Amino acid sequence: MTILDTDKKRLTRITTSPLLTPFLRGEVAEAGYDVQDEDHVSVQIGARLGDCMDLNLRLRTALHILWMLKRFRCPSPKALYRHAASFPWEELIPPDAYFSVSSNVDTPTIRNSMYPNLVLKDAIVDRISARAGRRPDSGPDRSRIVINLFWKGDRAWIYLNTNGRRLADRGYRKMPHQAPMQETLAAAVLIAAGYDGSAPLVNPMCGSGTLAIEAALIATGRAPGLLRANYSFMHTKLHDEERWQAARREARKQSRSQPPPPIIASDIDPRALEAARRNARTAGVEQLIQFEQCDFAQTPLPGEPGLVIMNPEYGERLGEIKTLEPIYARIGDFFKQRCAGWKGGVFTGNRELSKRIGLRVSRRVPFMNAHIECRLLEYELYEGSRGD
Ligand SMILES: C[S@@+](CC[C@H](N)C(=O)[O-])C[C@H]1O[C@@H](n2cnc3c(N)ncnc32)[C@H](O)[C@@H]1O
Repeated sequence: MTILDTDKKRLTRITTSPLLTPFLRGEVAEAGYDVQDEDHVSVQIGARLGDCMDLNLRLRTALHILWMLKRFRCPSPKALYRHAASFPWEELIPPDAYFSVSSNVDTPTIRNSMYPNLVLKDAIVDRISARAGRRPDSGPDRSRIVINLFWKGDRAWIYLNTNGRRLADRGYRKMPHQAPMQETLAAAVLIAAGYDGSAPLVNPMCGSGTLAIEAALIATGRAPGLLRANYSFMHTKLHDEERWQAARREARKQSRSQPPPPIIASDIDPRALEAARRNARTAGVEQLIQFEQCDFAQTPLPGEPGLVIMNPEYGERLGEIKTLEPIYARIGDFFKQRCAGWKGGVFTGNRELSKRIGLRVSRRVPFMNAHIECRLLEYELYEGSRGD
């Protein structure tokens, strides 16, 4: 008899990057789940393992989908070992498998999270070898079974990390170019800007194309998880290949076959365009994006208005702020002179530079990009919108 029932809903914690929770919550609710709890980097729902498969395929702003195996009071490493060793790991991890443990520890007695990793790993290996007569392998490689421990104060939670490597790694970005945006962040920025694929999207300064590629995935309703072939849950004993194939078929059915309104991506640097094109090809959306090598101000605009969104350098990691000032002023000119009737969006991490745009901001949405506070600045571009 098995103790681990895959048809039972378990508390499931879905994590994301700081400030992306509202977008993740929206996606999870749209997928039909009740959000039971949330904090600044995760939402919690009840889910079966099969639900986690569906969510791995469809969520655009999630990083990890963690299916809770056990929670307990944990005052010491001894308690961690005892509770972990009482879990039926032999029902989850085959004796010839490879697994990786990672911990997030905030408890006064432990300074180094390597130690709880080791205690949990030992408990798992000891339990399986006592029952199966063989020890699974373990190490840092997150491409097979991944187990996560959260230990806060005297409470601990152990999860099956159903995806393994973070879901932001969709697998299409073979050529990153300079300062690329994380895929989950790009998706959240587009969702924040109200992009749903019903109107054209123009992305000058496209770099490696992340915004344009995520836009093409949104516009065609394609599940980003279909781009990935490997997930942690597949390596467990609980894996149901039939259910997984059904989930993939269902996700494919949800995608729209009719081409979306135009998506145009441009950059002045031919190497950026080459990277963007290659990445779009890997993502299977190259034919949906028109690529142009030009200065941003020369980007062709379709007749029907939509969203023009750009992520200019902002001087933290690339370029000098002084040399960027005229570029930001020219973004304002471009919006004013060529984009009347469009919605403008500028994603930047430099407030002083953004003032150079010189147009009235209609909405500011805060984000974090690799520890830098950023904003999506939105502009409703009417004739004569130059203002404060
Ligand atoms: C911060 S990167 C954009 C990164 C992009 N969001 C991504 O995910 O890869 C800024 C891009 O602006 C481009 N750029 C800089 N000056 C430009 C100009 N005057 N016209 C067009 N593109 C320009 C650079 O070549 C670079 O690729």
